[in-house]
Amino acid sequence: MTDPTGVSLRHGRQMTAIPGPSIIPDEVLEVFARPMPDLYEGPIIETSHDVRERLPAIARTAGEAFIVIGNGHSAWQMATSNTLSRGDKVLVLEAGRFATVWGEYSAISGLDVEVLSGTDHAPVNPAAVEARLAHDSAHEIKAILVAHVDTASSVRNDIVAIRSAIDAAGHPALYMVDCIASMGCEQFEMDAWGVDVAVAGCQKGLMVPPGVAFVWAGPKAAAAYEHADNPVGYFDWGRRRDRSNEYAYYAGTPPISHLRGLQVAFDLIDAEGGLDAVWQRHEVLGSAVRAAVDAWASPGGIKFCIDEPEARSNCVTTVLTGRTEPEPFRSKVRTEAGLVIGMGIAGIPGMRIAHMGHLNPPMILGTIATLEAGLIASGADVRGSGIAAATKVVAEALA
Ligand SMILES: Cc1ncc(COP(=O)(O)O)c(C=O)c1O
Repeated sequence: MTDPTGVSLRHGRQMTAIPGPSIIPDEVLEVFARPMPDLYEGPIIETSHDVRERLPAIARTAGEAFIVIGNGHSAWQMATSNTLSRGDKVLVLEAGRFATVWGEYSAISGLDVEVLSGTDHAPVNPAAVEARLAHDSAHEIKAILVAHVDTASSVRNDIVAIRSAIDAAGHPALYMVDCIASMGCEQFEMDAWGVDVAVAGCQKGLMVPPGVAFVWAGPKAAAAYEHADNPVGYFDWGRRRDRSNEYAYYAGTPPISHLRGLQVAFDLIDAEGGLDAVWQRHEVLGSAVRAAVDAWASPGGIKFCIDEPEARSNCVTTVLTGRTEPEPFRSKVRTEAGLVIGMGIAGIPGMRIAHMGHLNPPMILGTIATLEAGLIASGADVRGSGIAAATKVVAEALA
């Protein structure tokens, strides 16, 4: 018998647990292999209408939905260029990284960006938002930008509590929420929660390869469009509102394969029992990951990036690895065990375990077991059995 020490165990299907792009269902991948149709008539027009009609419900809004060919950054741009004017002040609520990047791009587009500072370890503090807005008696701030889930730190901000803070300050600013990580993973109720603009991409909870993004606009955002003065032609809502013309709606050739993929992804969500069932699955699988990290954690050792348990997201968990260097560890599980996990980004020294999209217990428990094996093999301080803790969460959900 050969000595198994040092053997590579990675051969087999690779498990990719990075926080986007997520694992794409086979049914979605298959439609990407279909040939191109005539883009002006026939089934692709029906597919486009179907996707467009189903899109508002994904954000739980009765408002308008726009599809932009691009990534999440393009949805950020579409949101601000249609609702604001050059020189307008926007308040960015920092918590982790992505809201501040939205602010950086907004500044390039001529907006006056103020950052309400926060940390990598906690959600936005609604009381601080209220205090800042109460101070803005001239209502110079025209929009508030926040990420629902920040994919760098894995924090989940309390969108309802921030809305209450805006209302308590009696402030009229547009409330814009980045749901790029959270859409299709976390409960999000655009209209009921008083959100004016929501943005998302297709490549995370919505289970489609990267390439299209979405902007949902409520009535206050639609009214703001009428006097906004910072237009970018390609993103302009006006021409895209022409419902009789698919070419105009997409400002050019429609993203045919993506539309087919989205239709299948929406069918999968419906077949699961709708968004509530999808959110519940994410809650269980996210809880399983968190239970494992909790079991591994120890003072000076493994630790959650986010201190408050209620503010840890159901899409991704950022883990600080203590004395274990994250990069050699990530490289080991990738090259020797076939598991790809997210690297720490934005200066957060750790790893990110994704649990978003098309996932089930064998995928998540396999990920946790492989991580635990890798941690033990790397000599990390692993206090208890993450596998046992995660299995218990799944067992309780199955009971
Ligand atoms: C919360 C959040 N916002 C924005 C982005 C940027 O999206 P994209 O990379 O698709 O432009 C990401 C990407 O990971 C994200 O997670």
